[in-house]
Amino acid sequence: FGDRVLAGLKVVVSAGPTYEDIDPVRFIGNRSSGKMGFAVAEAAAQAGAQVTLVAGPVSLATPQGVAKRIDVRSAAQMHAAVTEVVAGADIYIGAAAVGDYRPNAVAEHKLKKQNGLDLTLQLAENPDILASLAAQQSHPFLVGFAAETQNVESYARDKLQRKGLDMIAANQVGGGLGFETADNAITLYWADGSAELPRADKAVLARQLIDRIASRYKAVRG
Ligand code: C5P
Repeated sequence: FGDRVLAGLKVVVSAGPTYEDIDPVRFIGNRSSGKMGFAVAEAAAQAGAQVTLVAGPVSLATPQGVAKRIDVRSAAQMHAAVTEVVAGADIYIGAAAVGDYRPNAVAEHKLKKQNGLDLTLQLAENPDILASLAAQQSHPFLVGFAAETQNVESYARDKLQRKGLDMIAANQVGGGLGFETADNAITLYWADGSAELPRADKAVLARQLIDRIASRYKAVRG
């Protein structure tokens, strides 16, 4: 991987989960470790890009070569940070597992048990970061991720279209792959093609992914 296939390009990567606070001590989160997104950020930097990494709550060191890291907690914070740094970027890779919903309100004090009664949490839908970028007149080349437990290809192709993405990296979650694991396997889809990146360490996979993104970027934007 000697080729600096992203030399001179600005790349923004989002990674990790989001935490949506319920009260001062509780939140709704997900099982994303941030490893895939951090590996992608590192691979993009190795490929010569100027990388900004927007990270949800993870315990990972900033990868070598990453120019700037912004730590956020909630989907709303991630949305704001990405919107700000993406101006002037050439490629946005949304590898974060953004929470789809957040509690309607964050309780000021710790919620108490209700003496055996059910507790109902009202949730509001979070903005879709990728889709909101795609809706802007001028936006970077957009790459999304789709972590699915079933119907991987049809869900991924649907997301590619619906969110207005240039490429989507789909992985099957489960069976020792996906969240909280060292390995992953990805199928990449774009409007008129696809590529299989078989099971490998996330760092290896990230380099292959960056190579593919660079070629497709050059084909449609170069
Ligand atoms: O719809 P789903 O969450 O499966 O889509 C996954 C892709 O969309 C990921 O690239 C993720 O980062 C992005 N996404 C987003 N904003 C959201 C939800 C997902 O950018 N609110």
